[in-house]
Amino acid sequence: MHLEAQYESAKLVCDIQPQKEHTTPFMISRDACLGEAFNFFRPFTEDDIFLDIGSGDGRVLMRAMREGCKTVFGIEVDGGLAEESRRRIADLVEKTRTRTASSETVAEVSSEETQLCSSWTVFEGRFENIARRDFRNFELRECTKVYLFMDVGGVEVVSPILNEQLPSGASVVSLDFPLDTEHVCTRLKLQLTRRVGHLDIYCYSVVV
Ligand SMILES: C[S@@+](CC[C@H](N)C(=O)[O-])C[C@H]1O[C@@H](n2cnc3c(N)ncnc32)[C@H](O)[C@@H]1O
Repeated sequence: MHLEAQYESAKLVCDIQPQKEHTTPFMISRDACLGEAFNFFRPFTEDDIFLDIGSGDGRVLMRAMREGCKTVFGIEVDGGLAEESRRRIADLVEKTRTRTASSETVAEVSSEETQLCSSWTVFEGRFENIARRDFRNFELRECTKVYLFMDVGGVEVVSPILNEQLPSGASVVSLDFPLDTEHVCTRLKLQLTRRVGHLDIYCYSVVV
């Protein structure tokens, strides 16, 4: 698909009115934290669908693409960040295509680059509104790897939806707050925790 067409198809705005609002401010996940998170997520298969809830500037999505995940979704409430992330991802995809096309042999292109995903979308809107409705091609029930970096209030809003809708076998990583697995997230089992700097990483698997 031409870059412009892919860019436009990945540009979706959800303007459904929220019922309850909470917005975690933007902060980036540092590489060291993402390293731990992706150690847990690996390996990716062709069928994996990756979601970053509150996808910010798109860095987590780009990491998932570089790791070989073929389908990635971001949901971001801040329109400016959603737009910035789309530009960054489109740029990455285009640069990779250009390099691949101009290389004489596949060996000239690193395996990381040849694996870049074929489908990406960044929704602009609140996760809690998008996840509760059928919205174009997005289905939370099909997401197999989910990342979130939200504050206590954000985790509180998101947790019951993940518990209700994620398929069994899915993996979830939450930085820097745990999900309430005792009362709310009864289908999510804590597999491991890691401390990176002053942040905690919580890794879960979804059971039946
Ligand atoms: C701490 S930042 C994390 C950004 C990115 N995921 C990362 O780890 O680098 C949280 C992001 O979530 C977004 N956000 C907060 N509440 C949200 C909600 N209810 N739905 C969608 N995005 C939300 C914020 O605008 C912000 O960009």
